[in-house]
Amino acid sequence: MTGLRLAPAVQATRILGVGSFQPERVVTNDDLSKIMDTTDEWIRDRVGIVERRFADADLKLVDMAVFAGSKALANAGLSPSDVDTVILANCTMPTPIPNGAAQVADRIGVKGAGAFDLNAACAGFCYALGTASDLVRAGSARRVLVIGAEKLTDWVEPTDRANAIIFADGAGAAVVGPADEPGIGPVVWGSAGDLVDLISLRDDRWIFQEGQSVFRWATTQIAPIAQRALDAAGIAPAELDVLIPHQANLRIVEAIAKKLRANGARADMVVADDIVHSGNTSSASIPMAMDHMRAAGRIKPGDVALLIGFGAGLSYAGQVVICP
Ligand code: UT7
Repeated sequence: MTGLRLAPAVQATRILGVGSFQPERVVTNDDLSKIMDTTDEWIRDRVGIVERRFADADLKLVDMAVFAGSKALANAGLSPSDVDTVILANCTMPTPIPNGAAQVADRIGVKGAGAFDLNAACAGFCYALGTASDLVRAGSARRVLVIGAEKLTDWVEPTDRANAIIFADGAGAAVVGPADEPGIGPVVWGSAGDLVDLISLRDDRWIFQEGQSVFRWATTQIAPIAQRALDAAGIAPAELDVLIPHQANLRIVEAIAKKLRANGARADMVVADDIVHSGNTSSASIPMAMDHMRAAGRIKPGDVALLIGFGAGLSYAGQVVICP
């Protein structure tokens, strides 16, 4: 016996509310075709994007995180003082110091919060959600505000047709707290650091990716990881109501859905397609999709959803959640 006291643990956690924010400026494929050699047809066909949102210069990553986080709290029916920890998943802060989470917590009104940034690129939200759930379960936090926010346009060369057509800006958030029954399943996470060069910065400045290699990795490796997340939660594919993969490319989303259906997922499983009007917003894409689908009535409280994020690192993470 060491005599050390442990924080009182809780058995289960759930998502209590979600929220999201997008910049006002809508950028269509035709808009992009005026500044680079691309077409609406190519982008719709190869990536599935029709339009996306770009933040203006005066709208910062931290601003978007504040707006999304505040909406998630309101959706949960909570006030800032009900939360004691803020995790900001992102990979596009303009500078590494200071972190974003402490500023976001202060501006939302979560005074004195435990606050840290988490960078697992496009897998960041699922990493942060898993971390938040385990913090609450262990008694280290009471309720956690988990935010994924990105200003990718700061890091994409504006006329680079390989990346400027895909990436966009925005934020999504979820509040995690204790629950009577499990609402967040075990996180399944990992990385393939040997493939780090597939998505990186060119000249320490602009995003570069070997698109086809990443596409192959995502369409072959992610569905088995999604299945592992289902197995870890004891959920059969047929029990899944909703699939929310990172919105990287609609063709990747559809490939993951197809493989899960081949494993028994239902034909009527709702599959997130938020990329069509939001683009690829990295760590923001999953909570933003969830919030948009909730607002549109495409998912309802109690639905069983599988979240799966993947991207630079290469990093991946997924878990089953019960929709709030
Ligand atoms: O979120 C983080 C994780 N990232 C991902 O999961 C992204 C994974 N990769 C992808 O989604 C796709 O690989 C891209 C969307 C990035 C690219 O699509 P693709 O179908 O793999 O195109 P590609 O790079 O193989 O290019 C095919 C052709 C090329 O022309 P040639 O060499 O065949 O003549 C490209 O130069 O299409 C050309 N191309 C374009 N044409 C018009 C590349 N980008 C464009 C464009 N407009 N924007």
